[in-house]
Amino acid sequence: MMDPLVIFTPSGKRGRVPAGTPVLTAARQLGVDLDSVCGGRGICSKCQVNPSYGEFSKHGVTVKPDALSDWNAVEERYDRVRGLKEGRRLGCQAQILSDVVIDVPPESQVHKQVVRKAAAVRDITMDPATRLYLVEVTEPDMHEPSGDLERLKRALADQWQIGTEGLTVPLPVLSKLQPALRKGGWQVTVALHRGHADAGERILDLWPGFWDGRLYGLAIDLGSTTIAAHLCDLRNGEVIASAGVMNPQIRFGEDLMSRVSYAMMNADGAAEMTRAVRDAINRLVTEIAAEGSIEPSQIMECVLVCNPVMHHLLVGLDPVELGQAPFALATSDSLSLDAAELDLSGLNPAARVYLLPCIAGHVGADAAAVALAEEPWASEDLVLIVDVGTNAEIQLGDKRRVLACSSPTGPAFEGAQISSGQRAAPGAIERVEIDPVTKEPRFRIIGCDLWSDEDGFAAQTAASGITGICGSGIIEAVAEMRMAGVLDARGLIGSAAQTGTDRCIAEGRTHAYVLHDGRTDGGPLISVTQSDIRAIQLAKSALYAGARLLMDELDTDTVDRVVLAGAFGAHISPKHAMVLGMIPDCALDRVTSAGNAAGTGARIALCNRAARAEIERRVHRIHKVETAIEPRFQEHFVAANAIPHATDPFPHLSG
Ligand code: FES
Repeated sequence: MMDPLVIFTPSGKRGRVPAGTPVLTAARQLGVDLDSVCGGRGICSKCQVNPSYGEFSKHGVTVKPDALSDWNAVEERYDRVRGLKEGRRLGCQAQILSDVVIDVPPESQVHKQVVRKAAAVRDITMDPATRLYLVEVTEPDMHEPSGDLERLKRALADQWQIGTEGLTVPLPVLSKLQPALRKGGWQVTVALHRGHADAGERILDLWPGFWDGRLYGLAIDLGSTTIAAHLCDLRNGEVIASAGVMNPQIRFGEDLMSRVSYAMMNADGAAEMTRAVRDAINRLVTEIAAEGSIEPSQIMECVLVCNPVMHHLLVGLDPVELGQAPFALATSDSLSLDAAELDLSGLNPAARVYLLPCIAGHVGADAAAVALAEEPWASEDLVLIVDVGTNAEIQLGDKRRVLACSSPTGPAFEGAQISSGQRAAPGAIERVEIDPVTKEPRFRIIGCDLWSDEDGFAAQTAASGITGICGSGIIEAVAEMRMAGVLDARGLIGSAAQTGTDRCIAEGRTHAYVLHDGRTDGGPLISVTQSDIRAIQLAKSALYAGARLLMDELDTDTVDRVVLAGAFGAHISPKHAMVLGMIPDCALDRVTSAGNAAGTGARIALCNRAARAEIERRVHRIHKVETAIEPRFQEHFVAANAIPHATDPFPHLSG
């Protein structure tokens, strides 16, 4: 007779297993995502399933072969003591007796977490570095003189097939072992950190008996301006809270190079910045734990992504070498550290901190995280990934080869160095349209749903007012000025007589275009000046030249798609970016936003330890192109000053 056919839903995975096989065993054999913390002892209840068709062993009914009857006794006891929901079975106890269909409810499917990336939605297999394991340890014996820890190690190896040769236990955790084992009746739940590659195992904490608690992890994107964190449940990857703080290092310098200079000029400068950023992370931990209603000590894992200067300052390495060619990193490898080594006292004292590897001196762990999220190495088509910030990190590649470079765009895209510029905040102009016939502008500000020429706009903006223009607003304004003919291809703003609009006003020997004049009501005059245009031209030329340099390396004049990463990238209109010549020509519907792809990459590394090994392998194969020493960069930079470009065609703009 054929073995029973088992079909799991919603995965659709199927296969045949011998009659009497427990559902959990069948799930493991067929690669179905079904959780277990107690290793099938009928204690943790994580393996619950809904049998929807077929015959299974029942409570209290002896199932042949006789040896299997105990399984049901365990489940019956569980049901009596803790209760099972109607129709639910413990997957580790219920045995398959005939052809069956088994539904795995979402709370038992812990190994998949959906992460959205620019081109698709992708499943992440949950396999975090730190997980809970219930272990049954043999009692000590006068004839067997081994210690409790040695017997725990043996039990971990026997019951969970975990190699424990290099297993370490911090002293404070070891001191809890003996009382926990005796209190738990020789059962103990351990939070075990399993390093990838050659890193050994480490017990981070332990509890008597079966501990039904949760472990959490933090994915932190440490930027030069802001520090953003997601608090994730390590069981299912769910983000339970998010928070951000300003990077307090701003007081030492707005941009990275000023911070490197601060470290060069001041004996204690680097250490001061290290203390500032670690304090900020500790405050962030307290805040995010409160928001997620958890104890900070439940945070056992932390993954950090950041640019090389932030990386060195966080770790306590001198960043001075990163301020001068050849921009040597102290180490480009990933780092796996104790929270205590970084003074991250807000986390569990034994928590582990993982920093992704850097790609090169100016292309850091944040770019590696973007790569992990977007996987250019898996792309059939040629993809250009642009993470726009004070420096733009650019990656270009496909299945055959991936290149990366960093380009010094400066802070203009973030609204800095712009006469009416400001950060994206309520009151900032974020969208702009200019009528090509009347040359009259309309705009939207952050915090108001209406365009400036719509009824109710004045009422809605009365409180916040119009305060300035942010990065996405200035990009749209300059692109719209070009399309409306108030700005020529060289980037010169015309006079009122040349453009036919009084909004073009003289400013010394140049002109400015007035977007909004609120002076009669005590508000600001918001205009786009010739120097603003120059700052945007420099920034966009640097970005374009970096991309073009990578295209030269691959001997191509076109890309198949463009991914705009970063919070700023999420707000750029693809059309305006292309009119301006920020990015190479591409079908507009093939330009997508990946949001905070660096943060997504950090979450992936938090949820899946194999992803850590993958990015460590991949960064060695990403070819770094150094813009600072490449003469063609200057040529591309000069040609890209024109709007959109002096020579490169943009056929998709005319379509
Ligand atoms: Fe723990 Fe089934 S695996 S109760």
